[in-house]
Formats: sequence, structure tokens, C-alpha cells
Amino acid sequence: MLALWFLLGVLVPHTAARYTADWASLDARPLPPWYDQAKVGIFVHWGVFSVPGFGSEWFWWHWQGQQPPDQKCVSYMSKNYPPGFSYPEFAPQFHAQFFNPGDWADIFKASGAKYVVLTAKHHEGFTNWGSPNSWNWNSVDTGPHRDLVGDLGEAVRNRSLHYGLYNSLYEWFNPLYLTDKKNGFKTQEFVMHKLLPELYNMVVRYRPDLIWSDGDWDAPDTYWNSTEFLAWLYNDSPVKDTIVTNDRWGAGCACKHGGYYNCEDKYTPGQLPKHKWEKCTSVDTLSWGYRRNMKMSELMDLPSIIEDLVRTVALGGNYLLNVGPTPDGMIPAVFEERLRGVGAWLQINGEAVYASKPWRVQTENTTVPVWYTSKGTSVYAIMITKPPKLTLLLLGPKTSAVTKVTLLGNSKPLPWSPVSPGGGLTVLLPELPYAPGQAWTLKLDGIL
Ligand SMILES: *[C@@H]1O[C@H](CO)[C@@H](O)[C@H](O)[C@H]1NC(C)=O
Ligand SMILES: *[C@@H]1O[C@H](CO)[C@@H](O)[C@H](O)[C@H]1NC(C)=O
Ligand SMILES: *[C@@H]1O[C@H](CO)[C@@H](O)[C@H](O)[C@H]1NC(C)=O
Repeated sequence: MLALWFLLGVLVPHTAARYTADWASLDARPLPPWYDQAKVGIFVHWGVFSVPGFGSEWFWWHWQGQQPPDQKCVSYMSKNYPPGFSYPEFAPQFHAQFFNPGDWADIFKASGAKYVVLTAKHHEGFTNWGSPNSWNWNSVDTGPHRDLVGDLGEAVRNRSLHYGLYNSLYEWFNPLYLTDKKNGFKTQEFVMHKLLPELYNMVVRYRPDLIWSDGDWDAPDTYWNSTEFLAWLYNDSPVKDTIVTNDRWGAGCACKHGGYYNCEDKYTPGQLPKHKWEKCTSVDTLSWGYRRNMKMSELMDLPSIIEDLVRTVALGGNYLLNVGPTPDGMIPAVFEERLRGVGAWLQINGEAVYASKPWRVQTENTTVPVWYTSKGTSVYAIMITKPPKLTLLLLGPKTSAVTKVTLLGNSKPLPWSPVSPGGGLTVLLPELPYAPGQAWTLKLDGIL
């Protein structure tokens, strides 16, 4: 009998693994491998909020939702718009007249990213596709009069990038949502008549590789029917084998349930987490959506982006870097420059990033700060500061008789010597070539 149970236990997962609508089952699903291999993605926040382009993509809430309202937003509106101007009146000015999805996809491809995540619907509730559940509050009925989600998806996939969709569960001002909220989330009018029909439709229509869920924190996952939705997604949806999800599926889910963990925005763990995670962050440090009054000093520069990316990957994370396009459909040139810079760095150093695994040691700061990754039998030591002299001391690796050290981008083996029988080596560096990201990678083979 015992043997029979054992056999069944072994066979069942291979033949008819079905997930049940509970976290124990859903959390046990392995992540589709493409995601961990990809390492780098581009996040795109685009919507009606890009039109005011003031403050952040939370403009509507800061102006008319939160109590008390943000006085900067209130006075901006009273100074520049006629009395009674309402937020939905921004939508017709979301023209996207210069939107060329091929140009965007070329930039994303050139950044070295392997996936792109677009806001299909942010907290304002406006859908960037012709959702039948979002009547007159979508990019086909008004604004661009265009299927932005579909058009970008086609261009992105044409360049062999994975395509993900961001979807906000809550909608700040949706009357159905506000009714449910008033009822202490004991009713599900919004979930049954808006959220779920739209979400199922979005998955079937666009077949995303990733769903970046957000706006979950006000209500428990039982209100959102998250586990039922995820069970369908993993068992029966057209993307059941490839879909990746994050962890924002209800109050208390972040860092605990779902696919990979985002935890909080811009979350950066201090040491190697046990669960796959992603750091999302934004080139504009003050906003995810486009801001017309952004200043250069408020943007991440290329070396800080590379440092952040390297730290994230060394700690087992994926790095999702955000840009906010203009309502005209342009990626601001300064963002494009950053993305191309990341791509130029990855062109040389990508071997240490894509499909890498965290190493036994993640970091050391002996000569300069170094982050380690590994792939197969190779270990990569990424220096995120230029060493003051041409010698670099590394204490983490243990050398052997066949140890070989090279600088990525240069095949010539570098001279090295062991520090002690216990480990460590001193590497004699060449004059380091100019690197826009100010980070260089040593490849170490034959070490322990
Ligand atoms: C991208 O589009 C071109 C032109 O339509 C086509 O020839 C090519 O096969 C497409 N590539 C992919 C990866 O879909
Ligand atoms: C939502 O969850 C309830 C309770 O588990 C279930 O009865 C219902 O079928 C679910 N609906 C959808 C659309 O997932
Ligand atoms: C590395 O060490 C130097 C010198 O002790 C210190 O100034 C620097 O802050 C350290 N950097 C990191 C990332 O810990």
C-alpha cells in the first residue's frame, strides 16, 4: 500500500498536476524558467496620468482622492485649468500621435532587457486596450483611439522579448469598488462585474507572459478572488505553462504568496533571499509616470543603474527598470540614453548576468566593492568601482592549479597569485577600458 501511494505521488505531478485555489497549492508552482534567465526587464508606466504629467502617476489621487488633498496638485489645477475641469477630461489629450511601437521595442531590445511590462490598467482604471468592461474609459474609445497593449505587444514579441502586463486590482474612483469598500469588502460587485471579466479577457486576448498585479493592499485576497483566478491561470488559461506572476494579490500577500516576490516598490534585500524576487525601480527617482517638470538631478545616472542591477542579480533578483513615456507616445530621449547605456554595458558584461545564479559569496569589499554571480563552473566578480591601483584583491574565491582569470571583453588571461592556502587571490589588472556604466567583470574559471 505504501509503495502504491509513493508511485502515485511520483506519477501524478507529471500527468495531471492541477493547482487548487489555495496558497499552499499555488505557491508550490515552479516559476517558468524563462523568467529567472531573463534577469532584466523594462517597466513602462503610460496612461491618462501621463497627460497632466505632474507629481506622479498618482496625480488623480493626490488631487482629489486623499484627505487632505496635496496642495501642490490642487493649486496646479486651479492655476492652469478652468474651474470644474475633471480628470477624465485629460483623456482626449492622450494623443499618442508619435507612438511607434517598433521604435519603442528597438530601444527596449537595445537596452539588453529580455522582457517588457506595460501598464495595461493603472489605479485610474483607464485601460490601454479596448476593454469592453471599461466603457469610454479606454484607449480605443478615447485618447489615442488605438490598441496600445496589442500594438506594443506585437512589436516587443517581434524582437523576441517577453511581454508582461501590469494590472491594478483596485480603481480609486470606480463606484462599484467604492461601494464594496463601504461594505467592508463583504460584497464583490466590482470584482464580479468589472475586475475579473476584464482580467480574464485581457489574458485570453493578449496572452501575456507575466502579470504584474498591483493595487491589492486595501482588501484581502478573498475579496479579489485571487486564488481562483490564479488556479485558472495556472491550470486552464492559454498561458498556463509560461505565465509568471508577482505577489500583489491581496493585503498581506506581498513577500509571501504568488509567483516571484516584489515585496514593496524598490525593495532591496540585504542578503540572499530564499525566494525568487524582482526589484522594480524607476530612472526618474520621483515618479513612475512621465513628469513634465523632471530635472536631470532627479534621475538615476548610468553607474547607479548598473550598480543597482548588479547588486540585484547577485542577490538572485530580476531588475525591472521603469521609464514613463510622454502622452505623445515618445520615450524621453534622456530615458532612451539610459536604456541604451544599460545595453552597451550588458553587451560586454551580459555573460555575468543572463541566466546566472547567485554564488556561494554574494559580495565583498576588500579592494573595491565586488558582486559575484556564477554560471556553470565560472564565477564572475563584478567591480562597481574602478580600483585605485592595477591590483585587485579578492578573498572569496579559492584558487586551484587550473585557475584562469579574464576580463570580460578581453580574452587575454590575467596574471594572478594566491593569497593563502585558505583562499583569496590577487589579480593584476590591465588598464581598464572606458566603460559607460563604470563597472567591469572578471571571469574566474577553475576556482572553488
Ligand atoms: C518580425 O517581423 C518581421 C517582419 O514582419 C518578420 O519577418 C520576423 O519574422 C518577425 N520576427 C519575429 C521574431 O517574430
Ligand atoms: C470567486 O470565489 C468564490 C469563492 O471561492 C467562488 O465561488 C466563485 O466561483 C469565484 N468566482 C470567480 C469568477 O472566480
Ligand atoms: C567599501 O569600503 C570602503 C573603504 O572602507 C568604504 O568607503 C565604502 O563605503 C565601502 N563600500 C561598500 C559598498 O560597502
